[in-house]
Amino acid sequence: MTPTEKGKKSATRGKTPATDQKKKAARETSSAAAKSPSKPAGKKSAAKKKTTEKSAATTTTPKQAAPKLAPKKTVTKPKTTWEPQLVVFACNWCSYAGADTAGVSRIQHQPNFRMIRVMCSGRIQPAFVLRAFEKGADGVLVSGCHFGDCHYIFGNERAVEQFDKTKNMCKLIGIEEGRIRLEWISAAEGARFAQVINEFTDQVRALGPIPFSKNRPIEQTEDVA
Ligand code: FES
Repeated sequence: MTPTEKGKKSATRGKTPATDQKKKAARETSSAAAKSPSKPAGKKSAAKKKTTEKSAATTTTPKQAAPKLAPKKTVTKPKTTWEPQLVVFACNWCSYAGADTAGVSRIQHQPNFRMIRVMCSGRIQPAFVLRAFEKGADGVLVSGCHFGDCHYIFGNERAVEQFDKTKNMCKLIGIEEGRIRLEWISAAEGARFAQVINEFTDQVRALGPIPFSKNRPIEQTEDVA
């Protein structure tokens, strides 16, 4: 290496730090410019501030605009759970079998009754019906075979006589006539049984609970037959 070349290299070595310094300075200025809040950044921050202000306004306005609601009044609804309780005296040979037919045929009817099976409708005396009312029944249905179908020949004719007596006694006591009913239902008349039960239940429901009832469920009553 010639001395001239050495001089050139040394000259270049001496120059490089100056260029590096310039580059560093340029980098520093650029980084400073990037870090320093520039105009667009300032716009962004202003926009952010505006949005936060808007959101605050939106959050606060409903509270301010919401009218003061009156305190809720607790409305106590009248109890409408009362359902009529019926007692059905049914002849073993016809009406009881008719109820069975209704059940087997899946015919829908109201379930507000308890059935007492007797061998013939002629067996139903006024005392049976009055005892049912005394024990909390709201209505009593007496049902038997059609005329001519009674297994005991004239049992249902006897039932008519007994029922007339029962009606008179109920009148004397103050029980409405609509609370007792006499019907003839055969073993094949499942649909008719359901219809009679529905009609009589609605009829008694319209009359309301029996005045002297202690509102006891019929399950607690004793057998009157
Ligand atoms: S056997 Fe049914 S009413 Fe007499």
